[in-house]
Amino acid sequence: MSRIVVVSNRVAVPQRSGVTAGGLAVAVNAALKDKGGIWFGWSGRICPEPSEIPEVTRKAGITYAVVDLKAEDHQEYYNGFANRVLWPVLHYRVDLSEFFRSDLSGYIRVNRMFADHLEKIIRPDDILWIHDYHMMPLAKYLRERGHKNRIGFFLHIPMPPSDIVQALPQHGETVGALAYYDLVGFQTEGDRDNFAHYLETRGGQMTPDGTGVDIGGRRVKLGTFPVGIETAAFARRARHASRAAFVKSFRDSLVGKKLIIGVDRLDYSKGIPNRLDAYEHFLKTRPDWHERVTFVQITPKSRTDVPEYQEMDRYVSHKAGQINGAYSDVSWTPLRYVNRTYSRSALAGFYRAAHVAMVTPLRDGMNLVAKEYVAAQDPADPGVLILSQFAGAAAEMGTGALIVNPHDTEGMANALRRALEMPLAERRERYARMMQVLEARDIDRWAADYLAALAPETATVERRG
Ligand code: G6P
Repeated sequence: MSRIVVVSNRVAVPQRSGVTAGGLAVAVNAALKDKGGIWFGWSGRICPEPSEIPEVTRKAGITYAVVDLKAEDHQEYYNGFANRVLWPVLHYRVDLSEFFRSDLSGYIRVNRMFADHLEKIIRPDDILWIHDYHMMPLAKYLRERGHKNRIGFFLHIPMPPSDIVQALPQHGETVGALAYYDLVGFQTEGDRDNFAHYLETRGGQMTPDGTGVDIGGRRVKLGTFPVGIETAAFARRARHASRAAFVKSFRDSLVGKKLIIGVDRLDYSKGIPNRLDAYEHFLKTRPDWHERVTFVQITPKSRTDVPEYQEMDRYVSHKAGQINGAYSDVSWTPLRYVNRTYSRSALAGFYRAAHVAMVTPLRDGMNLVAKEYVAAQDPADPGVLILSQFAGAAAEMGTGALIVNPHDTEGMANALRRALEMPLAERRERYARMMQVLEARDIDRWAADYLAALAPETATVERRG
């Protein structure tokens, strides 16, 4: 019976705060909670002499094994190559990437070190599931050492067209190394097709049935697996949270004004400046809405050592101040810009209280805020989702969301007005259509579909009692 070994940079070890903010941690945790298994990755700590042996915690059928990183490794692998090169390029922002060979070396060194650790953990029949852009070459290093396990990779972020990938120096070492996996999964069809074309430019041949590519004497299967959420559990959480004192006092603070909400890590891919421009335009052109609406933008700071993030931080704070300076009155603040992190329960309660959510990234792999916002709604009186056409979630939620182009300020301001004024019957219809998708394709289905595609036909995946 084979075990599942998940590998990702962040590991949501229970009782360790601040690691479940991103979509990946939420999704993997939910998937493993159901199946049990091992979750290996970085501890989130930096230390001068990391231990040779991972620190192990066991809880509810999951074994968490984490390792510390040296400051130099963290700087080159995480801040440098992963977050200043791979992240911007894969989000179509070659202009924001800063490539240094030393960072790529650090990325390779840390991935080789992860492979060293994994060698000591895995058994020959284990199924390995590697997550996200921090770990692209891991399968290559394990294959070089003779490991024949089934190894799958899932990319949580976008895969841009081949021309953009080619702008990545030495892309064969990173994106090209994905060909060493048995299965590479993507959030959308578009991401999958982009990668298939990229492999073709490297001499790959699409298989006749179109499910994979033959390249370098191996076959890599490609698939689309849009990440879902724990739909039923999140809806329940929101119902309970809306009765909590904390959420109640938040609602009271709005004194009857309609609530627009945005929740994003402080990241240039999230399109926060464009969203604020749209809100500003709305305030400018719709004075009838003054004093009747409050925009709460919750934006925990992220990757604060990376210069492009520091710049975004300064820009957004300035913009938020400008809007409030121009439109506030002694008894009304149109925008509350909050850099704090909230618990998932608090967020669920805030979502349920919000009449409109603006999820308007310039580019996003999926965006689970969009899905969680919908799941959190009161079916009798649901809010409206405004969603960017460039979020992976648009492929599934387009049936009920107001789809916008985040580069179209007036279009977004119009969508805001439409959302705020939408009749109940239309809101209910849109909500029902989106919930149908969220219920059919929740996180359990995502994990099950992926693992079914990865498992060899005959294998039985070990499940917890
Ligand atoms: C996105 C990525 C994840 C990452 C998360 C938080 O969701 O896909 O891999 O963990 O952002 O970013 P951080 O750099 O704090 O891990």
